[in-house]
Amino acid sequence: MNTSAQTPAIEFKTPALWREQCFYAGQWQAGDSGERIEVVNPATDKVIARVPSLAKHELEKALTEAQQGFEYWRALTALERSARLRRWFELMQAHKEDLARIMTAEQGKPINESRGEIDYAASYIEWFAEEAKRGYGEMIPASKAGQHLLVRPEPIGVSVAITPWNFPAAMITRKAAAALAAGCSMVVKPASMTPLSALALAYLADKAGIDNGAFSVVTGDSATVGQVFTESRLVKKLSFTGSTQVGRKLMEQCAPNLQKLSLELGGNAPFIVFDDADVEMAVKGAIGSKFRNTGQTCVCPNRFLVQAGIHDKFVTALKKAMSELKLGDGFDEEVKQTSLINAGAVDKVKRHYLDALEKGAECVLGDEPGTLEHNRVAPILLTGVTPKMQLWQEETFGPVAPVLQFTTEAEGIELANATPFGLAAYFYTQNLDRSWRVGQALESGMVGVNEGGISNAMAPFGGIDQSGFGREGGRQGMQEYQQLKYLCYGPAGSDSD
Ligand code: SIN
Repeated sequence: MNTSAQTPAIEFKTPALWREQCFYAGQWQAGDSGERIEVVNPATDKVIARVPSLAKHELEKALTEAQQGFEYWRALTALERSARLRRWFELMQAHKEDLARIMTAEQGKPINESRGEIDYAASYIEWFAEEAKRGYGEMIPASKAGQHLLVRPEPIGVSVAITPWNFPAAMITRKAAAALAAGCSMVVKPASMTPLSALALAYLADKAGIDNGAFSVVTGDSATVGQVFTESRLVKKLSFTGSTQVGRKLMEQCAPNLQKLSLELGGNAPFIVFDDADVEMAVKGAIGSKFRNTGQTCVCPNRFLVQAGIHDKFVTALKKAMSELKLGDGFDEEVKQTSLINAGAVDKVKRHYLDALEKGAECVLGDEPGTLEHNRVAPILLTGVTPKMQLWQEETFGPVAPVLQFTTEAEGIELANATPFGLAAYFYTQNLDRSWRVGQALESGMVGVNEGGISNAMAPFGGIDQSGFGREGGRQGMQEYQQLKYLCYGPAGSDSD
C-alpha cells in the first residue's frame, strides 16, 4: 500500500488498490508541487486520503502521453482491445469487495449499494468489450460505374472525461470503456471528493493490459483541469457528467477547438402514479429509484405526481416504506440511507424543505434537515406540494419525496413536462393504452414505465434539452467516440471497375 493520510480501518484483500497517486504515462505519479487534495469520508468527516493536485504542465504531459497512448491503442486489433477490456471487467469482479469498500469509504453510500455499483460499472466494460468487435462500417451503392463508396468509423482520438462524485466507478467505466472499445485513449478527471475508486480502476486497467497511456486518471483543481482539457488541441472529445451550469461552461470552453462533447447534466424527473396503478409496485419503484444513493442521483424522481383517486393510498404506503429505511453509516449492512456528500448538500435540502413548508406543503414524515450529525438527513415526505415551490423547479439531490395531487391524465402530463430538464421520467399504470400514450407524451431522454430502475449498460443513457446530449451505454455509446470517414474510390485505371 502506498502512504495514506489516515488509512481507514477497513480490511482489504488487495491493499494495493488504495492509491494516493495519479496514473498517467503508464505510471503512478506523486505530483511535482506536493500540493494535495484531501478526501473526506462523509460518514465520519475524517480525512482518509490525500491525492495530488496536478499542475498545468503535468496535466499537459498527461495529454501528450495520452496521444502516444492513442497511437498504441488504436493499432491493436479490435479483438485484442476486446480481450483486454474483458480482462478489466474480470478484475473488477474479482476485486468487487475491496472496490465496494473504497467506494463506501470515500462516498458514503451503503456498502450493498457500492457492491451494486461495482457490478453496474463492470457491466459497462463487459458490454463495450463485446461492442469493440462490432465497429462496423457501411458500403453504399455507387451512383457511377467504377466507384466504390464506403463509410469507415474511426476512433476520434484522445478523449477526456470529467466525472461526478455520486457514482465514483460507473460514471467512469461507461465513458472509458466506450472510448477504449472505439480505439481511443482516455484521460479521466474524477470528482475531487471521490478520486480513490477511479485510481483503483486505473490500477486494474493497467493490470488488464490497458497500458502505455491508453487509460489515465488525473486529479487536481476542477477549473485548471477543465481549462487544460479544453484548450488542448490533442483532446478531440470531452464527456462530462454533472451540473447543467458546469456543462454550459465546458461547452463554451470547447467552442474554440470544436471538441466533440457529450453532456449528461441535471434532471428533474417526474414520477407519475395514475389511478389504475398497482400501488405496491409503484411504491417499490419509488423507493428503489428515489432513495438510491440517498436521493443523490440525476435520474431519481424529484417530483411525485399522484392522481386524486389513488393519492391517499399511495402516500400512506410510501410513508410506511420510507419509515423503514434505516439511516446510518454505510458500512452497517442494515443501513439503506447514509450521509449526504457534504454540508452544502444538506443546506440545499433544508432550503427546499423550508420553502415548501412556507408555501403550504405538509410534512408527513421526517424533520427539518441540518440537525443530525455527519450530514445525515432522514427521509422526508411532503404532500400538498405545488409547482411554485423550489423543490419542484430544482433538483433537490437528497432524500425528499414531494407529492402533488392531480386529476386528469392531460394535467399530469402537462405538469410533468413543465420543466426545461429532460433526463428521466417514470409513470405507473396498468392500462395498456395509457402506457403507450404517456410513454410517448413525456419529454425525456429515458422513461420508466412501471419500472423505477432504468439504468442499464445495454441501453442508451442520456437526456434532452437542459439535461444535455449524447448517449452512454447501448450500441450508441461507442459512436460517441468515433468519427466517420467517407471514402469514395474511383476506378484506378480505365480497365478497372
Ligand atoms: C447519475 O445519477 O448521473 C447516473 C445514474 C445512473 O447511471 O443510474
